[in-house]
Amino acid sequence: MNVLLGVCGGIAACKAPELVRELGRADCRVRCILTPAASSFCAPLALEILSGHEVWDESYLRPGTGGVEQHVELGQWADVLLVAPATANTISRLAWGLADDLLTTTALMVDGPVVVAPAMHATMWEHPAVRESVARLRQRGVRVVGPDVGPLASGELGVGRLAELPAIASAVLAAASSGDLAGRRVVVTAGPTWEAVDSVRFLANRSSGRMGFAIAERAARRGAVVRLISGPSALAAPHGVERRDVTSALEMLEAVREECEGADVVVMAAAVADYRPASAAAGKLKKRDGGLESIALVENPDILAELARMAPDAVRVGFAAETEDLIENARQKLASKGAHLLVANDVSRRDIGFDSHDNEVVVLRREGEPVRIGKRGKGEVADGILDLVRGELDARTRSAVIS
Ligand SMILES: Cc1cc2nc3c(=O)[nH]c(=O)nc-3n(C[C@H](O)[C@H](O)[C@H](O)COP(=O)(O)O)c2cc1C
Repeated sequence: MNVLLGVCGGIAACKAPELVRELGRADCRVRCILTPAASSFCAPLALEILSGHEVWDESYLRPGTGGVEQHVELGQWADVLLVAPATANTISRLAWGLADDLLTTTALMVDGPVVVAPAMHATMWEHPAVRESVARLRQRGVRVVGPDVGPLASGELGVGRLAELPAIASAVLAAASSGDLAGRRVVVTAGPTWEAVDSVRFLANRSSGRMGFAIAERAARRGAVVRLISGPSALAAPHGVERRDVTSALEMLEAVREECEGADVVVMAAAVADYRPASAAAGKLKKRDGGLESIALVENPDILAELARMAPDAVRVGFAAETEDLIENARQKLASKGAHLLVANDVSRRDIGFDSHDNEVVVLRREGEPVRIGKRGKGEVADGILDLVRGELDARTRSAVIS
């Protein structure tokens, strides 16, 4: 998603570089416009390096820069316009449609959503002129995030602090979302499981959790209420997603049982171990001469298969990580596990699958041809899978209406 960030001249502009990073973490491409006042508070170079693009300011108006159409290009490029921090001055000019600098001129070229994150002294925020302008923006559908209560630049305590950066990023994602999963309850499992051998060792697999985290993040972005049940993973919980950590397959089963009640969709993207040691030694197993002959393993519960009983009304999505006969194995899994969709991915390839940023999958359905989602970032693959989930939900709504 393309986010055009307009930075205004307030103390909180020093947070703009970190905001660019925060948006990058949420998979956004960011370009920045600085108001003339903002460049006194925030170094353009920092924004340029972090956004990977030149930073636009009033120099575009100078003859010879060839940039006279910059407001058109930037406005058309933007999926979302974010003004953060938004000063009292710029808020008022946006509210009344003034176009006397690059930011406000470009704002009139943006036909997508606009998000404004004000930051100013509490007395300015409470001023009737500012209140009126903010109300005007809200009426026009502009999302206003914050300001928060806290210590202000003046040293006083009050309302006027720039909202927390993750909250601003969430507001941007929500503003751009199609909202087609609004109100849906989605449970996603992700990551590996660790099966204890003794008190310090475990059996695990190479899953990083990226695919499941991407599905959770995109579902939340599309308006769903998302619970992410994650095996051990170094990844941070996506914006707007409630995370529950588990370690072993047995813990994951218990968590799924509790969380899937009332869920509309359950996506089982976790790489759950098929087996666990029959018993885990209480302490650390001692090294013995001649090696350790064997570790007795017992089968773990098949959570996807059990899901049909635990969440009979939910759209159930399974994953098949295969190294051979991808489609055939996935077809068998779809038939035997009671899933509605089965996402097959080839984990023998190093460029996709486990611990990679990209994926390429084939989604099998109970009815209809398999759908291939070609190699792309896991976020986009997640959206492709969620499009098919939404298709299943829509089909249910249609058949409920007919009957
Ligand atoms: C040190 C200093 C700090 C300021 N902090 C803020 C602020 O936090 N919020 C605000 O609305 N204005 C603040 N201002 C006033 C703006 O900089 C001023 O209104 C400016 O014209 C805003 O221009 P812009 O909206 O085009 O960026 C501050 C001014 C100074 C000198």
